[in-house]
Amino acid sequence: MKKFKYSEVTPENIYKKRRSFVKSLSFGLGSLSISSLSLINNAFANTEGNKPTSFEDITTYNNYYEFGTGKSDPYLKSQNFKTKPWTVKIEGEIEKPLELSIEEILSSFPSEERILKLRCVEGWSMVIPWMGFSLSKLIEKVELKPSAKFVEFETVYDPEQMIGQRRPILNWPYIEGLRIDEAMHPLTTVVTGLYQKELPKQNGAPLRIFIPWKYGFKSAKAIVKIKFVKKMPNTAWMNASPREYGFYSNVNPNVNHPRWSQSTERPINGDIFAPRIKTLMFNGYGDEVAHLYTGMDLKKYF
Ligand code: MTE
Repeated sequence: MKKFKYSEVTPENIYKKRRSFVKSLSFGLGSLSISSLSLINNAFANTEGNKPTSFEDITTYNNYYEFGTGKSDPYLKSQNFKTKPWTVKIEGEIEKPLELSIEEILSSFPSEERILKLRCVEGWSMVIPWMGFSLSKLIEKVELKPSAKFVEFETVYDPEQMIGQRRPILNWPYIEGLRIDEAMHPLTTVVTGLYQKELPKQNGAPLRIFIPWKYGFKSAKAIVKIKFVKKMPNTAWMNASPREYGFYSNVNPNVNHPRWSQSTERPINGDIFAPRIKTLMFNGYGDEVAHLYTGMDLKKYF
């Protein structure tokens, strides 16, 4: 088995230098929209505990039930998982159904760095320097029909390679979904990497989604299909426990999980004695996303 080598990891000082270089490069290439970047940075400034989590923590403490339910299972058991060749089908209520290879996606949609916080429904959080682009860029290319009301993300089903899928831990494949306006929001990110590197397998290589104002389980990994649909998708977690996991799953300190409080969180930052911090409405991204839910009872639509 190929072991994960720490020499493959960019040391942090080099990473910082490269980061400013890559940022200026992206401006030069015009791949970075200034408005989307400042939106993301503003959103991030609203969050508490904004120091990026270490590469080691981000890549060894994961939830990825296809590889087991232990926090180190994804890191230990995903390293032989084949992410090439990889294609993503885009279908459903759209004018231009497509099947794109991962190479086509990476070259058509330039990635930029987005430092955004992941808040897990279990009560921990990480600040992650993701690489990616807004899902809206891809949606614009496939031309939505007016009948497209929701989008469904489907993860690969391959029990030969994914040992967790040999047991009915969840109803495989892992399905997640968003309302169309949520999917079109610029903060909804197609993730292609982190810390300026290729996306590690345990974090969802070669492609995953990330929705910073929602609990981490909405951010499906290893996506093979993006399907635009008329009706609200039935997601893997709603299937597993509808009382505990709703479709919206917005981070909301005022709505507790039936078995625990959601008012605080434990930042994963290398210090196990670090105090818990307050969880913010919409994970701190309320200025950007609260308008999507005007008039909705978020206790009912949790
Ligand atoms: N995607 C798939 N396919 N399978 C999973 O089990 N777990 C989710 C989400 N995406 C999961 C998944 C949960 S519960 C969380 S908190 C995040 O992935 C964790 O992402 P990270 O490991 O990159 O931090």
